[in-house]
Amino acid sequence: MSGDARKTAEGLSYLSGFGNEHASEAVPGALPEGRNSPQRAPLGLYPEQLSGTAFTEPRAHNRRSWLYRIRPSAAHPAFTRTGNGAIHTAPFTETVPDPNRLRWNPLPEPPAGTDFLAGLWTLGGNGDATQRTGMAVHLYHANSSMERVFSDADGELLIVPERGGLLLHTEFGRLHVEPAHVALIPRGVRFRVELLDESARGYVCENYGAPFQLPDLGPIGANGLANARDFQAPVAAYEDMEGPVEVVNKFCGNLWSATYDHSPLDVVAWHGNHVPYIYDLRRFNVIGTISYDHPDPSIFTVLTSPSDTPGLAGVDFVVFAPRWLVGEDTFRPPYFHRNVMSEYMGLVEGAYDAKAEGFVPGGGSLHNMMSAHGPDRETFDKASAAELRPQKIDDGLAFMFETRWPVTLAPHAAEADHLQQGYDDVWRGLERHFRAL
Ligand SMILES: [Fe+2]
Repeated sequence: MSGDARKTAEGLSYLSGFGNEHASEAVPGALPEGRNSPQRAPLGLYPEQLSGTAFTEPRAHNRRSWLYRIRPSAAHPAFTRTGNGAIHTAPFTETVPDPNRLRWNPLPEPPAGTDFLAGLWTLGGNGDATQRTGMAVHLYHANSSMERVFSDADGELLIVPERGGLLLHTEFGRLHVEPAHVALIPRGVRFRVELLDESARGYVCENYGAPFQLPDLGPIGANGLANARDFQAPVAAYEDMEGPVEVVNKFCGNLWSATYDHSPLDVVAWHGNHVPYIYDLRRFNVIGTISYDHPDPSIFTVLTSPSDTPGLAGVDFVVFAPRWLVGEDTFRPPYFHRNVMSEYMGLVEGAYDAKAEGFVPGGGSLHNMMSAHGPDRETFDKASAAELRPQKIDDGLAFMFETRWPVTLAPHAAEADHLQQGYDDVWRGLERHFRAL
């Protein structure tokens, strides 16, 4: 943490647009013109392609970038196994999938010197990282900047800070992310997390499946929800550093470490569409009813990872952002329901309109496939009696990782001291009001 880092972070400029064919060079003339891999690349750089999808995937889904670097990524010694820390990976087989509604308090304080990677703590997940299906829910709590560099071959990382700013040093350049913003690090992209405050806390969705994309808008039209132009990619920035650097690679669930003799964040120029990016959740264009009832919460989808079945996501990232409620003769909090999808919810700030208490920033809840949930009793009573004036919900920012398969817990999540006891009690006392006429 340093004032210089914050100054750097706040002064960064970006390239705008989701999925664009971006191009950036930190040194003029570093990008080749008219071809990707000339016989001799400009400035003595090594060209290298980084694939985010198979070469042959349809053009609309194809992701790749060309990097022009001081040394090729291939120039590294062997990786050897290192400890996995508190990171677990799918398939999650160590606990039995739990049909109960579960809720956690925030992660406890970590020991001094805990960096982002050491502070990653897996709650659970589904699918199989080796089959590139499913996802994992992680939380992080760190109090130290990373000296080492990390990359995740198992999936892309959607980072949702809840406390503390981060300066992400990536191969593509630097990104500044604060609570109420999110950052995405694509599969395989190396990065280092520098803390901008005393400590940092938040959530991570590790998506093993197809890269997140913007949802189709259908009858909503050409605009709305998360607008493509609000996604920001870094401009090229590089480290020209000789000397030992530890590089940790997550591969099929295990961490592997190698000590390079140079910084691998040495990309002087790049172009492509497989890029890290940030997004300010407050720019989300929230769409809801202007007559009665609520649309289903899929209307709040920021990003979706599609599966082979149209409309069925491996995982959706959904945000409950500040919004007006105006529905007439409508129960205004989220309705009671049972969902074939499984829902992990977290809270970035404030309160969530379906839960009067117990769901706190940094905490989270898991409502697995078909589990019954909805507003707690206090919320139900209040909302059933409320006068239905237009009402602004502006004191909270909650989000959901919604996934097609149940989330199975890592053992430490099932046994955690910060797993709340008695969560079911929030629905106790919902009295019968039925009167047969
Ligand atoms: Fe739900």
